[in-house]
Amino acid sequence: MTYRASDTRYDSMQFRRSGKSGLKLPAISLGLWQNFGGSRDYPSAFEILSYAFDHGVTHFDLANNYGPPAGSSEELFGDIMARDFRPYRDELIVSTKAGWLMWPGPYGEFGSRKYLIASCEQSLKRMGLDYVDIFYSHRYDPNTPLEETMGALAQLHRQGKALYVGISSYPREQTIEAHRILADMGVPLLIHQPSYSILNRWIENDQTIDACGDLGVGVIAFSPLAQGILSGKYNKLAKSDLGGTRASENYSLSAQRLAPRILSAVEGLGKIAKARKQTMVQLALAWVLRRKEMTSALIGVRTLEQLKDCLGALDNLDFTAKELAAIDKAVEGGMMDGRPKTELPD
Ligand SMILES: NC(=O)c1ccc[n+]([C@@H]2O[C@H](COP(=O)([O-])OP(=O)(O)OC[C@H]3O[C@@H](n4cnc5c(N)ncnc54)[C@H](OP(=O)(O)O)[C@@H]3O)[C@@H](O)[C@H]2O)c1
Repeated sequence: MTYRASDTRYDSMQFRRSGKSGLKLPAISLGLWQNFGGSRDYPSAFEILSYAFDHGVTHFDLANNYGPPAGSSEELFGDIMARDFRPYRDELIVSTKAGWLMWPGPYGEFGSRKYLIASCEQSLKRMGLDYVDIFYSHRYDPNTPLEETMGALAQLHRQGKALYVGISSYPREQTIEAHRILADMGVPLLIHQPSYSILNRWIENDQTIDACGDLGVGVIAFSPLAQGILSGKYNKLAKSDLGGTRASENYSLSAQRLAPRILSAVEGLGKIAKARKQTMVQLALAWVLRRKEMTSALIGVRTLEQLKDCLGALDNLDFTAKELAAIDKAVEGGMMDGRPKTELPD
């Protein structure tokens, strides 16, 4: 049966302008890292993505290496585009990135022009697209001149293969520099994609978020639920029975991240969420979106129920100063260090 998007798809979503650009993003965007790889079947992926789009989630975030295996998330998304989403291409914001390891040898990771241009071509093929809406440098590469990495973004922008360009996990100083280099080439820096959550505030600590605000660059926060920790589920699950959760994979969410000091910080958030008549997930997303610089909270979901829970955050995005202070107090012993590395092997 042909998919027809819901007529009410724009009724409940809030859209926010990305910095000083002309582009608005949904307050909640959906990423395809880990949950939409090779083991995900089409019907269950489509069920989640179409529900998202039917509720105003117009932005889907990918990267060359998303899967596993690397590339499979873009292939799955390409299938969805070809079979069901094609008529809605102009209502969708699709992003992808290059920066992390994608193929062997010296041209398959980091920030060279050689890697970024080739990777973008590969991503377009996997997704069956002529262009992406946003192409990102996925991480700062201290061993490549920033002029070269930004030059590659500008080239893709000029060729129309990327309508907008962004950076991900760049610290403050490098963000300001990237913005300047791009501006000199006549290309605006649309957006920064850093990690950010109640438990991970590095963009506040090094004032990257303030710099983005000053420069008119939007911000989209990845892992706003600290990969699920902020849902509170790990406070209930025994370490020996992690079910199908991300922690059971022991890949990006290692046992170390489920340390007692972190779980006890999360415990304290339960009461605050309850008083706000929200789930903990909704509290965590509303908290990320409280900053005026924040364009979107970029979630990941494994199930449709999780997506529905996340979208419920939009019902209560306001905080009192008292609530914010209570959140800070609850988590003060449970903070994580999310600051990206600025030294990498050459
Ligand atoms: N730029 C970068 O370097 C970078 C890095 C990481 C991610 N990202 C982007 O950001 C997106 C989101 O990252 P993320 O997946 O780490 O975000 P997240 O939203 O913090 O974590 C997603 C996980 O949280 C759990 N979850 C979500 N909703 C839930 C609910 N209602 N109740 C209970 N658990 C819930 C699920 O865990 P279970 O699977 O355990 O159920 C889900 O897989 C990615 O898909 C990707 O697009 C970018």
